[in-house]
Amino acid sequence: MKDITKLVRANIAALKPYSTARDEYKGELGVLLDANENPNDNGLNRYPSTALKERLRARVAALKGVAHQRLFLGNGSDEAIDLCYRVFCEPGRDNAVIIAPSYGMYSVCADINNVERRMVQLEPETFALPVDRLLAAVDSGTKLMFVCSPNNPTANAFPASDIERLAAGFDGILVVDEAYIDFSGRPGALPLLDKYQNIIVLQTLSKAYGMAGLRVGLAMASPYIISLFRQVKYPYNIGTDTIAVALEQLEKGGVASQVAEIIAERDRLSELLPCYRCVQKVWPSDANFLLVRCTDPRGLYDALLAAGVIVRDRSGVKGCEGCLRITVGTPAENKKLLKAIEAYES
Ligand SMILES: Cc1ncc(COP(=O)(O)O)c(C=O)c1O
Repeated sequence: MKDITKLVRANIAALKPYSTARDEYKGELGVLLDANENPNDNGLNRYPSTALKERLRARVAALKGVAHQRLFLGNGSDEAIDLCYRVFCEPGRDNAVIIAPSYGMYSVCADINNVERRMVQLEPETFALPVDRLLAAVDSGTKLMFVCSPNNPTANAFPASDIERLAAGFDGILVVDEAYIDFSGRPGALPLLDKYQNIIVLQTLSKAYGMAGLRVGLAMASPYIISLFRQVKYPYNIGTDTIAVALEQLEKGGVASQVAEIIAERDRLSELLPCYRCVQKVWPSDANFLLVRCTDPRGLYDALLAAGVIVRDRSGVKGCEGCLRITVGTPAENKKLLKAIEAYES
C-alpha cells in the first residue's frame, strides 16, 4: 500500500491548525461572548454553527454513500482543487500532471501555487484517456494527477478500468473530478476509494443539484486526506445561509426528474444538431453539455449571441479546434438555440 503521509508537504504535516472560538467550546448554547460577534440577533450575526455544517456533511455523505469522515465540503469544488495543491505540492519544486483539454482551474491553481504543470493531451478526436502517456509524464516530483470524468469540455467519461490503472500505477494523488457524474450512466470512481488511498474524488452541488449560486463542492477521499483538507481550509469556509439553503434544497428533492429531462434534451440535441450544414460533428456526451465542431465557430457564436443565446467558444483550445461547447438548457431554451441556428443558416 502507498504511504500517503510521505506525499504531504512537511509544513502541512506539522501544521497546528487554527482553532475557532466555537471549536474550543462544547456543551449547551449560552451567552456567547467568545467570538467578537455583534450580539444583536438578525439571524446572521453568529459565525456558522459547526453542528449545522455537520448536519449538511452527514446529509451529503448519506446521499453519496460514503462515511462522513471521507467527505470534505468546500466553497465549490474549486476550493478543493486549490487545497490539493496547498496540501501536497511544494511551490517551485513539485509538479502536477493534468489532462488536456480539460477544466481550466487545474492549471490556474497550479500557476497560483507556483507548481509546474505537465499537460498531457487526450487522444486526438476520440478524447480517450492516454493512460500510458500520463504515467510516462510522472517523475519523482509529481504529487498530483488531474483527470476529469466526464471531462469538460470533451463531454466523455473515461472507463473505470482506465481510472483504476492510473490509481494503481501512480505513486502520487490521483484527483478524479466528477462534477458531471450525475449526467452519466457510469458508476464513477467512488467505489475505488476503499481500495486506493491515493484517490480524491471531486463532486459538486453546482451542476445536477442546481445550486451553482450557493458554492458547495465535495471532496471524497481517505479520512486522512479529508482531515488534512479540514485543517488547511479557511475556518468558516461555508456560510450559514449556504448550509441552510443546501439542506433545504436537498430535502426538497426533484433533481432526478430534472436530470432525466436534461439527458433527454441532450440526446435530442445530439441527433438534431448534425442535421445543420454549419455543424460538422457532435461528440457523444456523458455530461449536460455538447462539444460541437462547426464550419465557422466564431460566425455561429456571434450569430447566436446576436439572437440572445450564449454558448462557450472553445475553438481556441488545443484539441478543440472549430468547437463550441453548448450547455443543455430547458426544452424552451433548446428550441430557441435550434431556431437561432436555423436563422443563421438561411
Ligand atoms: C470539471 C469541473 N470541475 C469543477 C467545476 C467547478 O465546480 P464548483 O462550482 O463546485 O466550484 C466546474 C465548473 O464548471 C467544472 O466544469
